Amino acid sequence: MSENLRVVIYGVGPIGSLIVKLLSSRKGVELVGGVDVDTSKVGEDLGIVAGLGRGLGVKVVHDSNSWGFLRSVKPDVVIISTGTYLDRIYPQIVRAVSAGANVVSTSETLAYPWYRYPELSLMIDELAKKNKVRVIGTGVNPGFVFDALPAFLTSVSAEVRRIHVVRSLDASKRRYSFQKKYGLSLTPEEFESKLRAGEISAHVGYAESIMLLGCILGVSIERVEEGQEPIVAEEYLETQYFKIGPGRVSGIHGWGVGYVNGAEFVRLDLLASVGREDYDEVLIEGNPTMRWRCETGVPGDIATASMVVNIIPRVLQAPPGLITMKDVITPSAFLGDYRWFAGRT
Ligand SMILES: NC(=O)c1ccc[n+]([C@@H]2O[C@H](COP(=O)([O-])OP(=O)(O)OC[C@H]3O[C@@H](n4cnc5c(N)ncnc54)[C@H](OP(=O)(O)O)[C@@H]3O)[C@@H](O)[C@H]2O)c1
Repeated sequence: MSENLRVVIYGVGPIGSLIVKLLSSRKGVELVGGVDVDTSKVGEDLGIVAGLGRGLGVKVVHDSNSWGFLRSVKPDVVIISTGTYLDRIYPQIVRAVSAGANVVSTSETLAYPWYRYPELSLMIDELAKKNKVRVIGTGVNPGFVFDALPAFLTSVSAEVRRIHVVRSLDASKRRYSFQKKYGLSLTPEEFESKLRAGEISAHVGYAESIMLLGCILGVSIERVEEGQEPIVAEEYLETQYFKIGPGRVSGIHGWGVGYVNGAEFVRLDLLASVGREDYDEVLIEGNPTMRWRCETGVPGDIATASMVVNIIPRVLQAPPGLITMKDVITPSAFLGDYRWFAGRT
């Protein structure tokens, strides 16, 4: 039997900590350290920081020391769970890849990075190929509910005319950082101005999911529209972290629409608010027309951590470079041009 797979967790927040918990019980995985900027975590044992209740015998180091640290521990995989926007996590990817590590990240914009960051995508792809490693962004969304899942469901479709996905979730069940970025307890005016200023983001990734879904299905999406508006509480509501008076923000309705030949091809609706029913629904209009529904909803945090952990073996089997869920998932409908594949042996 060969050696253990060596993994570093870059960003030991709620999601990074869940990933530590899952990986610590997987066979053949060795957690060789963590990286963070939070001074209360730096220098502490990774297992204790992640809330395992036991030490793992490896430390969390500060981001400013990550270059030397990654080169000395030589991980096979670095999990980056520090942030959403690719321009901000780009230096972390460069350090990991330059140290010879594959990267699996929960960064939403990395799920289909060519949409917002074409130049950075090119640079990451080149660096990853040079170092013979892979870089991927995934999670529950982008990564599953709005893209990989509907794509998989179309694998039994003879024709796909339109796809509509609705994700409905109870925001009170989610972690603090989620509730904060969704603007819970703000006035609608504060919500709008903070969203415009980039101080809160709510959900990021409608466009990435649409582009990813189009790319998997072989369809050119010619235009994407996306937006988010606050859902306002009609009565007093409370979560573990926020008290929400009537007239204040209790969640969001966000949407993304992708057009093909001037018509709506993909519509994504996210309804995330306190007390809302948890469910996910995918409607595929075509031949056959099908409606798939998950009555419990896919719980976002554990699903994200699980996707990251479960995708590692598939990522390691993919060709080097900047890849997406297209390169690792199971079948989907193919609506593109079969000549793209002619002559492949
Ligand atoms: N694709 C998906 O489906 C999906 C699902 C869930 C989450 N996400 C994304 O995954 C990311 C992690 O989620 P989270 O809730 O755990 O976020 P979080 O609460 O912000 O935690 C991130 C952790 O990384 C640390 N950090 C920030 N910048 C860093 C840097 N330059 N170097 C090292 N550490 C750094 C943070 O420290 P400080 O707290 O001191 O800043 C914190 O400890 C978020 O961007 C979230 O939006 C994606």
